[in-house]
Amino acid sequence: MTLALRHAPAPTTAHARAATRVTRIDVVLIGPRGQVGTALRTLLAAQAPRLRAQSGIDLHLLAAADRHGLAFDLHGLDPLDLHFDHHPQHTATLDRVLNHLGHPGQPPCIVIDCTASAEVAARYAGWLSAGVGVVTPNKLANAGPLARYRELQDAARRGGAPWRYETTVGAAIPVLGPLADIRQRGEPVRRLRGVLSGSLSFLLDRLHAGQSFDHALREAQSRGYTEPDPDEDLQARDLARKLVILAREAGFDVEPEAVQVQPFVTSRASGNAEWAQRLATTPTDQRWVVLAEADANGARVHLATVSNDSPFAALRAGENRLCVETEWQSDKPLWLGGAGAGPQITAAGVFSDVVAAARQLAWRR
Ligand SMILES: NC(=O)c1ccc[n+]([C@@H]2O[C@H](COP(=O)([O-])OP(=O)(O)OC[C@H]3O[C@@H](n4cnc5c(N)ncnc54)[C@H](OP(=O)(O)O)[C@@H]3O)[C@@H](O)[C@H]2O)c1
Repeated sequence: MTLALRHAPAPTTAHARAATRVTRIDVVLIGPRGQVGTALRTLLAAQAPRLRAQSGIDLHLLAAADRHGLAFDLHGLDPLDLHFDHHPQHTATLDRVLNHLGHPGQPPCIVIDCTASAEVAARYAGWLSAGVGVVTPNKLANAGPLARYRELQDAARRGGAPWRYETTVGAAIPVLGPLADIRQRGEPVRRLRGVLSGSLSFLLDRLHAGQSFDHALREAQSRGYTEPDPDEDLQARDLARKLVILAREAGFDVEPEAVQVQPFVTSRASGNAEWAQRLATTPTDQRWVVLAEADANGARVHLATVSNDSPFAALRAGENRLCVETEWQSDKPLWLGGAGAGPQITAAGVFSDVVAAARQLAWRR
């Protein structure tokens, strides 16, 4: 008997080049002093040297800005030691930096938007079509009108620029990536059903444990689980945005106004009474969940009770879980889950997107 030994294939020229070459990628971080932005800077400082050594990708923090200041250095900033210029003209300076990005001869560049700002989101299309990569956990751009969602996909294609927003749904849980893979292999998605609000599942965990609504909300806020404006969570607006993005990535053409939304509370002031009343009449073998669903008939967010043995009932505080039914996976659907909220884990997901975007830009050169 002869044994056929299989050798690893010789590296291609491109592989060999990548192993030895270092590619500088400029990074502009918007919202560096927010919860996610701060956690991301810690990751950048800790992980950039390893990334440079292992992958030849040199992430170079060129600028960091919010509405109150700008830090900028052509030689690169220390992510953990930013010195902000609080000059009132700093936005004009940032604009000059941003307008310059993507020009021929400049290093490839990624803008990371860690704000919840519509104003910043309005600039993505321009950056993408100029070849500048955009990475963001900000939902506003992709959850707006369908035409805008498509415009951004087109701009990224035209500019050959990475456009990554995995953390807009399910924080660092890979959700949008698997959906893209499923669609790329031609497998139609039939139905999505998920518990996708880390903040609302945290509140429900605490409510079922006997805490009052007010108390649970304060705890969720102090842990950084809620949106900057908690009414975004309580009125399920934030969840509806996630559902719009998720549905679109699954191939359902949803407009935001068409999503049926049941809020978590009528108002913050009535939350204690509403939930005390609801829980008083809930059988002990049932649990409340906030379900987000989409299929060919549309998208909806609603409160529902599920039995204690449902996979949705077993979620711990802050967890998300999504069930994906497809043409080929209907009796055994795909389940995705994990930590769905929190600045640290969201920043980790953003950093994954930054690394993937940087690789795409490095290979483009
Ligand atoms: N926290 C989470 O667990 C989580 C999970 C998933 C997704 N996200 C998303 O991540 C994003 C950031 O969340 P966060 O919790 O980090 O919010 P945050 O703590 O409020 O931070 C946002 C930062 O953005 C800056 N900012 C706001 N508007 C700006 C503008 N127009 N231009 C420049 N900077 C601006 C703010 O600084 P100034 O006020 O000084 O400008 C602030 O420091 C949001 O889109 C959120 O939906 C968060």
